[in-house]
Amino acid sequence: MKVFAHRGASGLYPENTYAAITAALELGVDGIEIDIQSTLDGFAVIHDTWLDRTTNGQGKVNKLTLAEVQQYDAGDGQFVPSLEQVFQWVNDRVLLNLELKHTFALDKLVKLIEHNVYSGQLSRENLLISSFDHHQLKWLKQHLPWVKIGALTSSIPLSYCEFAERLNAYSVHVDKNFINDEYVADAKARNLKVFAYTVDKQEDIEDMIAFGVDGIFTNYPSKAQTLLLQK
Ligand code: G3P
Ligand code: CA
Repeated sequence: MKVFAHRGASGLYPENTYAAITAALELGVDGIEIDIQSTLDGFAVIHDTWLDRTTNGQGKVNKLTLAEVQQYDAGDGQFVPSLEQVFQWVNDRVLLNLELKHTFALDKLVKLIEHNVYSGQLSRENLLISSFDHHQLKWLKQHLPWVKIGALTSSIPLSYCEFAERLNAYSVHVDKNFINDEYVADAKARNLKVFAYTVDKQEDIEDMIAFGVDGIFTNYPSKAQTLLLQK
């Protein structure tokens, strides 16, 4: 079972920041999940549409430039990273899962990804793009056919994983509370990986191991790593 640091090692450091991302790398995680919001001129790594919860700024991220967003404190003296900065910090060492939030200018995103692939800072294998917005995923798969996409869902649709199979997705990213044996069996039959979010409690981690999911997103990667070592 792969362990993804959710928003970096966000149980230990401010979410989606350099501190959380480098801590996750030091822990030896398999992957890092980060959230992407569009700014006026690029892509910021921040979960919310608004600055207010995670920084000392106020207002909507997409009404500001990256430089304006980056002037605020994201906790413990950290700043809101740009996507380009995260590509540099991670430097292709682990699987990087970009979760698209209010992300537009997807053509610019494709160009940024291609630039990082050509420069050798990111390999195709180490990129996974997920979103609750499956129209965005469909567009990305059409314009960047090699990219791995993860279909996010917060429920179990009646058709189980048919929606993800139709998108030619690599994985389904599912709320841990909706995972059961049937769901995992259905995903496996369709050749889809199952990644569960957000799995922090010991008993939930144990349940996910028992269900046979392929990976979990967790704010406390070392807890999951320790449990996996005991298995
Ligand atoms: O990508 C899984 C999970 O992060 C989705 O929910 O709100 O934590 O971004 P959220
Ligand atoms: Ca997320």
